[in-house]
Amino acid sequence: MTTFSTISPIFDVDTIRQAFPILGRMVKDKPLVYLDNAATSQKPLGVINAIHDYYTGYNANIHRGIHSLAEEATAAYEVTRHAVKQFIGAAAAEEIIFTRGTTEGINLVAYTWGRQNINAGDEIIISGMEHHSNIVPWQILCEEKNAVLKVIPVTEDGELSLMAYQNLLTDKTKLVSIVQVSNALGTVNPVKEMIAAAHHVGALVLVDGAQSAVHLDIDVQDLDCDFFAFSGHKVYGPTGVGVLYGKKKILENMPVFQGGGEMIKEVTFEHTTYNELPYKYEAGTPNIADTIALKSALDFINTIGKTKIRKHEAGLLAYATEQLETIPGLAIIGKAREKASLVSFVIKGTHPQDIGILLDNQGIAVRTGHHCCQPLMKRFEIPGTVRASFALYNTFEEVDKLITGLHKTIKMLS
Ligand code: ALA
Repeated sequence: MTTFSTISPIFDVDTIRQAFPILGRMVKDKPLVYLDNAATSQKPLGVINAIHDYYTGYNANIHRGIHSLAEEATAAYEVTRHAVKQFIGAAAAEEIIFTRGTTEGINLVAYTWGRQNINAGDEIIISGMEHHSNIVPWQILCEEKNAVLKVIPVTEDGELSLMAYQNLLTDKTKLVSIVQVSNALGTVNPVKEMIAAAHHVGALVLVDGAQSAVHLDIDVQDLDCDFFAFSGHKVYGPTGVGVLYGKKKILENMPVFQGGGEMIKEVTFEHTTYNELPYKYEAGTPNIADTIALKSALDFINTIGKTKIRKHEAGLLAYATEQLETIPGLAIIGKAREKASLVSFVIKGTHPQDIGILLDNQGIAVRTGHHCCQPLMKRFEIPGTVRASFALYNTFEEVDKLITGLHKTIKMLS
């Protein structure tokens, strides 16, 4: 059987597809066309095997046991931490905290750094294209602290208004929390520039990398972001594991998040002292199997190379955009100059959900709805969109199937 390790370094989509067993299945008697990669990507065999190997070979709790299984599990878990450090260009492994996913990473910062540093009258800036997970934690914090949440407006093309952003930045701004790639529009935001501007007024910056980590080369030191959060399951890894990166100096000075085993140095009934980074933020038994398997996902991406992956995905996006634009009544929502490989659209006289159901009947999986971005949908005055999001294993034939499927769907609905 083909696994990621047998894939040639030359990009070959047919070979790549063989590493993803699920892509061979049928849905409603039709071959699966999986175009919901922004929700979660499929998993290569290397990732699936890594989970199987852990549970059949060395399942044990980590950092606690002195027996062989515990040592093997601990070593594998820490190997992933080093792989993540490399993957995002962090300066040190202690800056990598394992979480449940992007949402937990953002909440960790809101509940620790936020509680410590945000006071009445302070301002937090987010953007109009944030996922609910990068809105609600800051709203909760602002309500609690009497702080103010400010929002960078989104242009008609689905870009952030950088002029408006400049005007929002003041000495009251304490944090900017922005998405690098919009899950609903595909827009790639110029976060490096935005980080520099925020630092200029003394604010810290959290980058939501949930959609960017799989497509873009991430170098947190070059970006100079203070925090960066992403999820394993969107980078071909398992669900239930994610990463929060933070600059060491900032993490060291932050208060603890959850209390429990592992995050402590010494506990007495009178007083507790806390563990070093990153363990200070990893209370309780973590998601060991999935964290170990995340390394296989990163290896898979690295083996092929993001440059090649991006080239393939950009081709799919360009072709899909061109084809979709020929469909009468179809309007693409989000026409940013720089986009990752997803396309959101509405079709006059139809509801996105009806389109999603009828496409599913043809074996085509897309996401429909507000994509956890209700304020963004309100901005465009639409209930939601149909979203096709592409991964490295998608093909041009699958784009053709989407287009044919849409024509059929429109006929059925008219
Ligand atoms: N945030 C994920 C999406 O955009 C679930 O579909």
